[in-house]
Amino acid sequence: MLLIEIDKRAYNSILNFSRVIYKNAIINKEDLPDKEQIIKLYYKDKFVAKAIYDSRATIKILTLKDEEINKDFFYNRIKKSKEYRENILNYKDTYRMIYAEADYLPSIILDKYNNIASMQVSSKVMEEYIPIIFECLNELTDITTLYVQSAKKGSKIKSKIYGDKKFETIINEGNAKFKVNLKGHKTGFFLDQRENRLNLENYVKKGDKVLDICCYTGGFSVHCGIKGAEVVGVDMSDKALEVAEENMELNNIKNYNFIVGNAFDVMREMIDKNEKFDIVILDPPAFTKSSKDVKNALKAYNTMNYLGLKLAKRMFITCSCSHHIDREMFKNMVVSSSLRAKKEIRQIGGYRTQSPDHIITMANKNLEYLKCLFFGVED
Ligand SMILES: C[S@@+](CC[C@H](N)C(=O)[O-])C[C@H]1O[C@@H](n2cnc3c(N)ncnc32)[C@H](O)[C@@H]1O
Repeated sequence: MLLIEIDKRAYNSILNFSRVIYKNAIINKEDLPDKEQIIKLYYKDKFVAKAIYDSRATIKILTLKDEEINKDFFYNRIKKSKEYRENILNYKDTYRMIYAEADYLPSIILDKYNNIASMQVSSKVMEEYIPIIFECLNELTDITTLYVQSAKKGSKIKSKIYGDKKFETIINEGNAKFKVNLKGHKTGFFLDQRENRLNLENYVKKGDKVLDICCYTGGFSVHCGIKGAEVVGVDMSDKALEVAEENMELNNIKNYNFIVGNAFDVMREMIDKNEKFDIVILDPPAFTKSSKDVKNALKAYNTMNYLGLKLAKRMFITCSCSHHIDREMFKNMVVSSSLRAKKEIRQIGGYRTQSPDHIITMANKNLEYLKCLFFGVED
């Protein structure tokens, strides 16, 4: 295994729980390989960590022990990540079981929905361990189907199924039920919004008119519907909206309408028609995946929030899942949209983020990506 010497700063950051280091921390750069592989990191002849090296990415720490990366390694890691979710967070059947660096399993994301699971892998090294990971899942959990999508940055997504070929299940989220298909967007369902969807139920009144923008398979819509609201959901994916309708029916909700279309256009048309909603929810996709595009992304968020606020009468819930938009940028953007819309807003509660199974470790800021703010609106 390749031995790589790192500088003092990187050594200290690893000791301080950082799970990635940068290439400029490497002293013997001439020894770096072209191919992605596992390397051993040293500082002053002392072993520090094993890590995945990929010439096009950051160096991701796998372990601080000089141990073999084999079945035992994955078994112990998966056991720990499962126990944290089940024993500390009290999740039962459905949760994000592996969240990359947060679980010391970099480049792997795994969502468990009852006994089926969806995994995204973004490293060639980790791809080689998928059969072992599936064995560990079989031994440690009730998972019988693993749907894997592998994608290195910029390359085509490959998918493979392990075990039974069962792609669908019905999950419970509080009193709501959702049909999840592993072949849906990302890992099939946005588990990261679970706590925010449940929190919204506290504010929905029977007969409320709710607008759920970028509603996907009806996550927020269902929670509002079961509280007796009349829901209008908008999404550009007709396939997602077909499932959203099934989810409304599954929960015996009759009072809804889903609109296929571009959220910006649909909201402008609604404003022209002078429509209003008691509650407006905005949960768009990440408008930027790189730090270079933050300015344009903020413009798009600003416009969407301005339109949403124009339509909101009592409450406004706004989210961003862009890594590159931090809390402060996000809040400043909402303030600017509210001034543009001439609506006074009052923040309800603190900053909300992703569900806790999407673990945020204090030394790894990149793990926190979701921002969600609840506001009361003065119409
Ligand atoms: C983060 S997901 C929403 C998740 C959803 N709120 C939930 O709880 O399951 C974002 C959704 O936005 C949709 N979308 C992306 N761009 C859009 C646009 N311009 N107009 C309407 N929908 C859009 C995608 O199809 C996707 O379903």
